Amino acid sequence: MRVAILSSEAVPFAKTGGLADVSGALTKALHAAGADSFLITPLYDQVDRGLLSGTFIDDLEVEWRGKRPRIPVWISEALNAPTYLIDAPHYFARGKIYGDVDDFERFAFFCRAAIALLRRLGDAPEVVHCNDWPCGFATVEMRARRQQEEFFANTRTVFSIHNLAYQGLFKPADLWWLGFSEYTSDFMLKGTASALKAGIIAADALSTVSPRYAREIQTPEQGYGLDWLMRARSDRLAGIANGVDYEIWNPETDTDIAAHFSLDAVAGKRECKLDLLRRFGLPEELDRPIIAIISRLVGQKGYDLIRQAAGGILDAGAFFIALGAGAREYEDFLQSWHDAAPNRVGIYKGYAGEPLAHQIEAGADIFLMPSLFEPCGLNQMYSMRYGTVPVVRATGGLDDTVQSYDVATNKGNGFKFGPYSAPAMLDKIREAIYFYTQPDIWVKIQRNGMTTDNSWSVAANKYLELYDEIAGAGQNQVQSSR
Ligand code: ADP
Ligand code: GLC
Repeated sequence: MRVAILSSEAVPFAKTGGLADVSGALTKALHAAGADSFLITPLYDQVDRGLLSGTFIDDLEVEWRGKRPRIPVWISEALNAPTYLIDAPHYFARGKIYGDVDDFERFAFFCRAAIALLRRLGDAPEVVHCNDWPCGFATVEMRARRQQEEFFANTRTVFSIHNLAYQGLFKPADLWWLGFSEYTSDFMLKGTASALKAGIIAADALSTVSPRYAREIQTPEQGYGLDWLMRARSDRLAGIANGVDYEIWNPETDTDIAAHFSLDAVAGKRECKLDLLRRFGLPEELDRPIIAIISRLVGQKGYDLIRQAAGGILDAGAFFIALGAGAREYEDFLQSWHDAAPNRVGIYKGYAGEPLAHQIEAGADIFLMPSLFEPCGLNQMYSMRYGTVPVVRATGGLDDTVQSYDVATNKGNGFKFGPYSAPAMLDKIREAIYFYTQPDIWVKIQRNGMTTDNSWSVAANKYLELYDEIAGAGQNQVQSSR
């Protein structure tokens, strides 16, 4: 099975959130499961050039706005499968990955270039796996290409929705010069053009990143205006929970943390806690629980609840450590909370890169994810591996991956609350802290988390089954049309 993964961000090259973790890890896991997988992603200015092996070609011809520019493509062996990086500084050397008015144009170009590259790579892939709205253009273009070009006749597409809230909107008039005017109706969403919607319509199969989120996006409450489309395509929609790359997130081998630890040798975790307190300038009170959060500072992540419950969290006796980048209002809230309680609240505003995220996972006691919605979420799973107990809202992938601890049966690896409300969240935080003060029980919850298997191999096999279904269907279709 030859699979091209297209993604606008991927670890270890460039990252703003979980899409990057997933794109890198899935490419690796598919390869480990026997697939001929490879990744295509933009060469941003922030990509560490040390990861590149060299130029793969320097003359990739891309049909673009009536011209045919020739651009270089780089290759990296940083994963176990090849990564091809599209080098177009005009679009990708912006000092950031997203956030410019021409984002739709930048990623339409990326998609066009990625498809041009597929032709230069020899055998056509059986599956092109497109991720989120930036790759919506590629699913539309592939649908057209395989009717026009023998080379792509047997190539099918999977479109993965990592977050339905990001819809890739732009003016319909721009479809013309982007070369998609024939498919205007696929893009149209309430008077505007959406690369996400077009990707959903054009793909041969759809997936999203947890079973519960697959159900939620078919409801008006969580469908972001696209629930009707998700229901219409529900027979093609799979919910496959993300996994954890245990080569990267493993407290026994992690080179970013102060001391290693494992299920049978947990002493190192205390050293990591001390290190974390020092990094954030907090007093070395090792018995006080640390509640941590690492996330993009957006409404999705539940900062409104944290703001409402701020006093209660500190009254419950915890330290609070937050790492986040994003909306000004939440950055200002974190700053004022820290200023009011500098000995209890530690903050890092901005995108810190990987080491600090690992140090927080290793040193914290409780990891908070009070998300309004959460397609999958990764930090709750990273936390479990590091003996850090997740307290989450029961939504999307958080509900699928965290089991509530039950003291009667001793089962469960975290704590979950249902209603999106500050009192409900605070109740669970208090419950978690109550168990934290009983080390015999806490150790059991930690063990349950540390032994939970969230490895990528399970998810990779589910993706392979999905690919098999559409690749088989594709061949039949081509045969019967001949
Ligand atoms: P999302 O993709 O919605 O942001 P996930 O839980 O799937 O949420 O993944 C978030 C990823 O981004 C995690 O690997 C997390 O550690 C990382 N991350 C988020 N914010 C930051 C930040 N400010 N600095 C460093 N890493 C971050
Ligand atoms: C999105 C979601 C997050 C998910 C990630 C990777 O950014 O918000 O829940 O874990 O994609 O699939």
